Amino acid sequence: MSTLDTLGRPLRSLRISVTDRCNLRCHYCMPEDEYLWLPREDVLSFEEVSALADLFGDMGVDRIRLTGGEPLLRRDLPSLIAQLARKPWLTDLALTTNGVLLADAAAELRQAGLHRLTVSLDTLRADRFLALARRESLPAVLSGIDAARRAGFTDLKIDSVITRGDNDDELGDLLEYGRAVGAEVRFIEYMDVGGATRWRPEAVVSRAEILSRLADQYGPIQPLPSPPSAPADRFQLPDGLAFGIIASTTQPFCRTCDRARLTADGVLLLCLYAQHGTDLRRPLRAGASRDTLLNLLRAVWRGRANRGAEERRGARDRGSYIPLSVLKRDAHLEMHTRGG
Ligand code: GTP
Ligand code: 5AD
Ligand code: SF4
Repeated sequence: MSTLDTLGRPLRSLRISVTDRCNLRCHYCMPEDEYLWLPREDVLSFEEVSALADLFGDMGVDRIRLTGGEPLLRRDLPSLIAQLARKPWLTDLALTTNGVLLADAAAELRQAGLHRLTVSLDTLRADRFLALARRESLPAVLSGIDAARRAGFTDLKIDSVITRGDNDDELGDLLEYGRAVGAEVRFIEYMDVGGATRWRPEAVVSRAEILSRLADQYGPIQPLPSPPSAPADRFQLPDGLAFGIIASTTQPFCRTCDRARLTADGVLLLCLYAQHGTDLRRPLRAGASRDTLLNLLRAVWRGRANRGAEERRGARDRGSYIPLSVLKRDAHLEMHTRGG
């Protein structure tokens, strides 16, 4: 029997952040000039990640997504992927990347046994990319996507966070790019997560607005079935092209949320919006037995009541979620530490 939380939700999916470092500075995630980084000695070794992953497997997890920061900055990542890919309980092993280092890494990731890749890409215009991510990396990302396809990642996805006045005029261009490279595009509503210090309600482009703009451009849009716990709602254009929308801000999916997050230094977070986590690194490094750790995990999950996005939707005078002064004291509150 799998352990259920206080809202009856099982734990099925684990997102493991392998590093808090990033080589872009996206405006919705890392808009500041300086950041507090996790101490290097706290970052879990691959053996530690693998041991913790097995405990999550015992809890009923069968899907793992590797995230960052930017996961391809973690040295020797393919060897972690190979270790995880061998786990008999794992049915899905995916990676979310910004694509900057993907061109050189794609073939190796595939060989190591990675099943699926999602690349974040918010604009197809080089000048905008520089303005939105503060690096001139658009050509690298585009060749990364190309390399991923050539390496055999047929299940490619492209995630685009849409923000008003920045890239909301590129919906059709992004869809056409996705069509050309054989990747499914998902439009993501701007979320007021920790780290999004410039968030304001007016900048959010809602699912409803995205759909109505696309309908103006392409004609009637049909919904497609999607798995109940998936964050993306899927749709199709009149010509059959499928795409997704992740409406975390206006239509939160907390009631079916079956995911937990593990930060690079081994802190378990029960929600993207959680303000506190459970440190698994300390007991692990102190030699706690597998049973002790598993009992800890079970107890923590049983007590889970988080529904952060829903609560934020109900908040009055909504502005940025965590004040900058608080973010500066605890790296764990940042989106780039907990993985997108
Ligand atoms: P698959 O369905 O397995 O492809 O993965 P996914 O949809 O979880 O994909 P991905 O990791 O690419 O996440 C896409 C985006 O959805 C993230 O970058 C977040 O913006 C948002 N998101 C992912 N997980 C959560 C979550 O647990 N809660 C909320 N509110 N938003 C999330
Ligand atoms: N709003 C929405 N999505 C975000 N991400 C990071 N910050 C935010 C935010 N404020 C997600 C994006 C990006 C991934 C790495 O993290 O989907 O593609
Ligand atoms: Fe899950 Fe929290 Fe996201 Fe809601 S806000 S879907 S509970 S991670």
